Amino acid sequence: MIIKRLALDATALADGRNEIWSEVAEKEIALSPAPLALTNAVSPYMSRTSGHGKNESLKVRMLHDGNVLSIRLAWKDPSKDDAINDLDQFADAAAVMFPMTPGASAFSMGSPDKAVNAWLWKADEQAPFDVMARGYATSARREPQGSGLTASGHYVNEHWIVVFQRTMKISREETVSMVPGAELAIAFALWEGSNNERSAQKSVSGEFVSMTIEH
Ligand code: HEM
Repeated sequence: MIIKRLALDATALADGRNEIWSEVAEKEIALSPAPLALTNAVSPYMSRTSGHGKNESLKVRMLHDGNVLSIRLAWKDPSKDDAINDLDQFADAAAVMFPMTPGASAFSMGSPDKAVNAWLWKADEQAPFDVMARGYATSARREPQGSGLTASGHYVNEHWIVVFQRTMKISREETVSMVPGAELAIAFALWEGSNNERSAQKSVSGEFVSMTIEH
């Protein structure tokens, strides 16, 4: 997939409901339940749970204008889970993840010497989380402003529409490089709140897939 360079207004794109998004091609991505057996070393409990991975597909649109990279995710979800009022409630969520180093694995969420960076949107939070991970159970959230990262979500006709945007050139130290003409590897995940999905219990797109950021 090519992340096209299009001179569209980034402020208008920030709202995924805006008609302007009809100018960007959409790609459907198949999702499958995260293979929880892989987490056995850090959580024997988690590795034995099942029934997760309710969301089976995701529609993705991506573009950039040389300054801002925008990613729009849309998926059908008949139950809107955007509030947590008790211990047994979980919110709908979506994430995109990138390797910090070539060869990092999405399935392991990175490793000690190969970090990954994920952008996490949760339906019960206003701001996104900027997550760094080096393997399971190592996720650490950073404040998103330092990464020039924003996210907004809207619930329309039983669908969630989420837009992530990041300034391409930023000065933060550990940063995913986003340069016109270069490759960008990416993976996706969704959590279905009504199905008690959280942490590893989610749907994932598989290993990182490389895309080209159009020059
Ligand atoms: C392939 C795409 C994937 C993406 C985009 C992704 C993204 C994320 C994100 C954003 C979090 C939340 C961190 C937080 O709440 O701050 C998380 C947590 C977690 N994920 Fe993944 N993940 C992926 C694949 C996997 C797979 C395949 C597994 C295991 C089979 C897994 C295991 C975990 C675990 C155990 C946690 C709990 C928190 C922690 O690691 O500290 N992930 N993931």
